[in-house]
Amino acid sequence: MKIKYIIILLFTILFGFISCTENKTIAKRDLSSTPETKSDAKMESFLDSLTKIMTLDEKIGQLVLMSTDWEKTGPSINDNYKKLIEEGKVGNIFNAYTAKFTRELQQLAVENTRLGIPLLFGYDVIHGHRTIFPISLGESSSWDLKAIENGARIAATEASAEGIHWTFAPMVDISRDARWGRVSEGSGEDVYLGSEIAKARVKGFQGDDLFETNTILACAKHYAAYGAAIAGRDYNTVDMSDRELRTTYLPPFKATIDAGVATFMTSFNELDGIPASGNKYLLTDILRDEWGFEGFVVTDYTSINEMVPHGIAKDNKQAAEIAINAGVDMDMQGGVYMDYLKVLITEGKVTEKQVTTAARRILALKYKLGLFKDPYRYSDETREKELLMTPEHLEAARDMARKSSVLLKNSKQTLPISKDKKVALIGPLANDKYDIIGSWSAAGDRYTKPVTVLEGFKEKISNPDNLLFTQGCEINSENTTDFQNAINIAKKADVVVMVMGESEGMSGEAASRTNLDLPGNQKELLKAIKKTGKPIVLVLMNGRPLTLEWENENMDAILETWFPGTMGGYAIADLIFGDANPSGKLTMTFPRNVGQIPIYYNVKNTGRPYEANGPEQKYRSRYLDVPNSPLYPFGYGLSYTTFTYTDFTINKKEYTFKENINISVTVTNTGAFKGEEVVQLYIRDMVGSITRPLKELKRFEKVMLEPNESKKVTFTLTSDDLAFYTKDMSFKAEAGNFKLFVGTNSDELLETNFTLK
Ligand code: NOJ
Repeated sequence: MKIKYIIILLFTILFGFISCTENKTIAKRDLSSTPETKSDAKMESFLDSLTKIMTLDEKIGQLVLMSTDWEKTGPSINDNYKKLIEEGKVGNIFNAYTAKFTRELQQLAVENTRLGIPLLFGYDVIHGHRTIFPISLGESSSWDLKAIENGARIAATEASAEGIHWTFAPMVDISRDARWGRVSEGSGEDVYLGSEIAKARVKGFQGDDLFETNTILACAKHYAAYGAAIAGRDYNTVDMSDRELRTTYLPPFKATIDAGVATFMTSFNELDGIPASGNKYLLTDILRDEWGFEGFVVTDYTSINEMVPHGIAKDNKQAAEIAINAGVDMDMQGGVYMDYLKVLITEGKVTEKQVTTAARRILALKYKLGLFKDPYRYSDETREKELLMTPEHLEAARDMARKSSVLLKNSKQTLPISKDKKVALIGPLANDKYDIIGSWSAAGDRYTKPVTVLEGFKEKISNPDNLLFTQGCEINSENTTDFQNAINIAKKADVVVMVMGESEGMSGEAASRTNLDLPGNQKELLKAIKKTGKPIVLVLMNGRPLTLEWENENMDAILETWFPGTMGGYAIADLIFGDANPSGKLTMTFPRNVGQIPIYYNVKNTGRPYEANGPEQKYRSRYLDVPNSPLYPFGYGLSYTTFTYTDFTINKKEYTFKENINISVTVTNTGAFKGEEVVQLYIRDMVGSITRPLKELKRFEKVMLEPNESKKVTFTLTSDDLAFYTKDMSFKAEAGNFKLFVGTNSDELLETNFTLK
């Protein structure tokens, strides 16, 4: 089958001498070389030749992506996908993995279609492929860009060994509404941190060279503003000013382009009345014309068709027309490009050139992956055997799970627990394999591979008789039959560890909730155990901020572990028994109650800011029943040790636009444990041509400190870091006064100021 590419190469060489018509009937010939994959000029000429000999139908086939029946990640499945591949109507496949299955499907395309153009295999490799890392929101809480990049690298290594060329990640939607289940898939609420993590993930997936067999294409999704769905209900309407779009929601997407992301995925939502898959402003004006994106754009699952229920297309045919004219290259699962593009061209509503351009973008990435050189190069059973779930990958996942956990409370140093204590381990997630790896867990095994907390504890507790376990309750039910057992073992123990939270399916896609308390009767069980008077450590697994006011009042310690992944049980045990020290910091604000949502740190002041100690309280921006402040702010997270911040200095008080602002602060570990601290730097622009947020994260650094050790942490800002969309929408800094803050979270900060002149 390589011969087909060889023929195309030959055509490349002969192109200019032989007419296009003659070459549509290229005979099979042998050549000593296959297309080179690294040189752009060669690629361009290869693509010129290839697209010249492709029929319109063949080109349209390249714009079609279909799911297999291996997995269901949306409402409908087309059982016919194998036949459609053989007919050349489907050029790309998702939800297929393993070297064997991808090879089998690849063969259908390569051997049965006229030109043998290889399939591209996509899959939702979000937080690991076989070795599952913590959910993305969890990973973001590590604030460790190197570890996040490495997690994506490992995911790509494993996925590519199973025939996958393309992941539908990173998800870079800024999310400030914890009701929205998909907050679990992103990096939280902050634009700067979200953009840095977006870049790290793209680098991790794509590596330095797409031609390497352990790198895969990344996909920035969901473009755009999906995280702003009204009331946190998935797929719901989005509407916002252009300024807000560009200030908050677009920067992480732009960051992925700066990192060289290969593909973009549209979102399900509408924006200003136009669904994203038909939104020319997003897909062409901004993405192509402003940002110069050269990869291809895929829709989300059937989102072209969904323009019909959205009410901007009367039928699928019109939806296809709107999508391609807006700038969508590839139709995921909708089948409408397959069904209607040809007739739309005949009717003059779409041009063949548009189809060729889209096909060429897709073919270019197939070329860069080396698929024209060898379409089976990723479907390699030897690599598959060698590279999945290696000890090194498992260790990285364990480390990431430790780094991602956030210590929310630790009164009287309840944690860490000494290994010779008698421990009662209780809770529906304490011995759970299924949920611990979270939603979107790719090809991760939910039944045998994950390590539970009980298994982790068994490795730590010196005397096995000192570990007592019962489940106590279920995640989401009113069943109380095990309550008494739980109370009994709690009474026998020195300390109780309760592992509770959500099931994996309570966050992720189509998993919005309006009540963010612990589900079912978990809180009832906590209350019953509380009555024993024993110290209680609450270990949480969940995919979003929860409302934990009662827990915060009544538990002795709380450790947020998100869904920590395959090695979660070991990592949690490492933290609980003091073999590791928590260092995670929240990347989403935790509200006191659902009524405060959306709640996030970089709010504006309003004209009537509430001041707790101010003279007049009534006509102020506040609630009557709860404070404005959250339960736990953005950037918050404790450690077993303590850190102090001193010597916060800046080199000058006045800066010109060209000068660097050099900042330093000394951080000292003043406690007894070695630990890591995330040093956070925020600014406030006091007066602008438009109103400015009270705080904006601009830099951070994670430092490891031994007890009594101090480190000077330095940051440099330039006037570019102070830029924003000004009144006339130009992106620039304005002269004036600024506050500068540094500290341990967005609420506990040292402060200084400077002027930009
Ligand atoms: C729908 C989801 O919104 C998207 O994130 C995912 O990549 C696709 N389905 C494919 O599974």
